[in-house]
Amino acid sequence: MSIKIAVLPGDGIGREIVCETLKVLDVLNRDYGLNAEWEEAAIGGDGYDTAGNPYPEATRKLAHAADAVLLGAVGGPKWEPLDKPLRPEAGLLGIRADLGLFANYRPAKVYDQLLEASTLKPEVVQGVDLLVVRELVSGVYFGQPRGIEQFEGQRRGINTMSYTESEVERIARVAFAAARLRSGRVCSVDKANVLEVSELWRETVIQVKEREFPDIELTHMYVDNAAMQLIRNPKQFDVMVTGNLFGDILSDEASMLTGSIGLLPSASIGESHAMYEPIHGSAPDIAGQDKANPLATILSASMMLRYSLNLSELADKVDAAVEAVLDDGIRTPDLAGGSKVVSCSQMGDAVSEKLQVMAA
Ligand code: NAD
Ligand code: IPM
Ligand code: MN
Repeated sequence: MSIKIAVLPGDGIGREIVCETLKVLDVLNRDYGLNAEWEEAAIGGDGYDTAGNPYPEATRKLAHAADAVLLGAVGGPKWEPLDKPLRPEAGLLGIRADLGLFANYRPAKVYDQLLEASTLKPEVVQGVDLLVVRELVSGVYFGQPRGIEQFEGQRRGINTMSYTESEVERIARVAFAAARLRSGRVCSVDKANVLEVSELWRETVIQVKEREFPDIELTHMYVDNAAMQLIRNPKQFDVMVTGNLFGDILSDEASMLTGSIGLLPSASIGESHAMYEPIHGSAPDIAGQDKANPLATILSASMMLRYSLNLSELADKVDAAVEAVLDDGIRTPDLAGGSKVVSCSQMGDAVSEKLQVMAA
């Protein structure tokens, strides 16, 4: 029986980077015995344009039936004037919530080949290998009440940051389990000096550690300090576990340790579904120009092979092919240094060719 992947290219550079990733999966099918097939469906602005809904019913059905979902990116200025529920971002939040994808793994690994690409000093970033575990279906993104209302003669905007104990427990377990396979260290990031929701977060994380993960070394850090420490001395971190909003921000920050946001993959995992997506957005400023870095999406497909499809050997091959391309000095324009600047499609071709050569 073949593996079924729901492919959701989305908007902006989404289609370009997904196209390159499918080239890689094609090679795995042909030369490595991967028996995967995929079907495309619309999400985000593409969903709105084609079906009047950023998370169309047909996409929902396909995603539920698939073994894994691969997503490009959503959003763009074209759809910004729409009512909130019709905007591309509502489609992305919608599919995450609908599939119950509460755990978002966002690894940030610095490649030696790309030390010059970071805006930070090479000695600060060399050897960085950290994992942001971001809670993905609750927190201030989803809390009630929310909205814009009239208040004392003016408008007032409201969002609510809330976490239940069980929501914190389940993401803490994910982070501790991930740490067991790494260095055994977790730093929980919160704002417990100000927010009650963080106070509960911290207490709950400690309880889960004491009850279920006594072997793990747990530390805590306020989010403002964590943002600073990530730049000051990123190597102090292994697994960072945090809420939805803080994880969104810290993972974009962590991407610049590696040289570009175009390098960071992610896995969004729930009880019975999983979706793989780069952490970056639809990059409207470079969309349609064949300039985007497809590696974050290709590496997201590698995470899909590893975590959803139990094909870690194939994932290792994809990771090795990416490294070999970087060894050759091949770079998309977002990456400084290197010896050959290539387009998005040439980067996809380069990774695919490496894989073919490795199979021969
Ligand atoms: P962005 O991540 O799209 O872009 C930020 C900057 O990084 C831009 O200069 C862009 O050119 C660059 N960049 C991003 N990905 C790149 C890649 N693969 N290769 C080279 N350069 C890359 O963030 P933004 O500009 O704040 O948001 C643009 C749109 O994307 C918005 O509509 C936003 O809501 C949406 N967005 C979607 C996702 C997602 O789908 N997961 C994530 C973030 C933002
Ligand atoms: C991300 C994005 C999304 C988020 C937006 C587009 C809803 O920034 O995947 O990081 O905030 O989660
Ligand atoms: Mn983000």
